[in-house]
Amino acid sequence: MSDSSYETIRIDKQDGITFLVMNRPEKRNAMNPQMHYEMDRALPELEADPDTKIVVLTGAGDTFCAGQDLREYFRGLDDNPAERRRVGEASERWRNRRLSGYNKPTIAMVNGYCVGGGFTQMLCCDFAIAADEAIFSLSEVNWGILPGGLVSKKLSDAILPRHAMLYACTGRTFGGKRAEEIGMITQSVPLAELRKVTEDLARELMEKNPEVLRATKQAIRAVRTMNDDQAFDYLAAKSAEIKLRDKENAYSNGIKQFLDDKSYKPTFGAYDREKAKSE
Ligand code: ACO
Repeated sequence: MSDSSYETIRIDKQDGITFLVMNRPEKRNAMNPQMHYEMDRALPELEADPDTKIVVLTGAGDTFCAGQDLREYFRGLDDNPAERRRVGEASERWRNRRLSGYNKPTIAMVNGYCVGGGFTQMLCCDFAIAADEAIFSLSEVNWGILPGGLVSKKLSDAILPRHAMLYACTGRTFGGKRAEEIGMITQSVPLAELRKVTEDLARELMEKNPEVLRATKQAIRAVRTMNDDQAFDYLAAKSAEIKLRDKENAYSNGIKQFLDDKSYKPTFGAYDREKAKSE
C-alpha cells in the first residue's frame, strides 16, 4: 500500500515494514524545503499507524540522498531568512528530534550516494544497512561550508574522532565496507542483497515486544552522555515505564515460558508473543 498525498516522499507499506522513501531521484533525492515539511508530517503519522511496526528510510533510484538541495534549500533561501529559519527547523526536527527519539525501530537502507546533510538521517536511524557499492562523502568542505546542522555532532557521536576529522576535512569518498569498518553503519552488504538483509533485520526486530524494544533503543542512545548515577536512575525509570506501557506483559510471559513451560530459551530468541496473547 502507498500514500499518494506526498510529492517528494513515498510511503510503501509491506507486512509491518514501512519504507519511507526520499523520492526525488531526478535530483538524487536532494532535500528541498518541501521534502523537509513532508517528512516532518509523515513521521508522526507513521508513529501512530498500527500497520507500521518498523520504518525503513531509503532513497528512490540509485541514490540514498545527495544532501541539502543546493538550489532550493541554500541559494533559493539566501534572501529569505524567515523561510530559511522555518525550513531549517523542520529539517532538524524530522531527523534529530523525530527520528532520533522514534517510538518504533528505524533502519536506514543506504542504496547509493549518501552525501553531506544526508548523513544526518542515516545516523539518526537506529540501524543503517548500506550497499557495498554506496558512496559516502562529506562534501561540504569541497564547496565552502562545514558539516553544519547537526552533521558534525552526529558523526562525532558515532565514530572515532580521527575518522570524523579525516572525512570531514577531505570530503574523501568511501564505500559501504569502509563505513562498516569505522562503525558508522551497522552492516554493509552487496547491493543485490540490500533489501533482503534489511527486511530480515526488520523481521527479527518485529519478533520482540515493541515496548521493550522502544525503551531499549531509547536507553542505549540516552545513557551515552550520562554518568553512572544518572544512567542508573534513568534505566530504573525506563524499566518502570515498560511495565506501565506494556499491555502484553512481556516480563511475566517471558519468565513463564522459560521457567514453567520450558518452551523457549531467551538466549536464542524472543518469547512467543502470539502464545502469550492467547493465554
Ligand atoms: N542539490 C541540488 N541539486 C542536486 C543535488 C543537490 N545536493 N545533487 C544533485 N542534484 C541535481 C543536479 O544538479 C542534477 O540536476 P539537473 O539534472 O537539473 O542538472 C541532478 O540532480 C542529477 O545530478 P548529477 O550530478 O547529474 O548526478 P550524478 O549521478 O552524476 O552525480 C552526485 C550524483 C555525485 C550526488 C552529484 O550530483 C553531487 O555531487 N551532488 C551534490 C552533493 C552535495 O554536495 N550535496 C550537498 C551536501 S552539503 C549539505 O547537505 C549541507
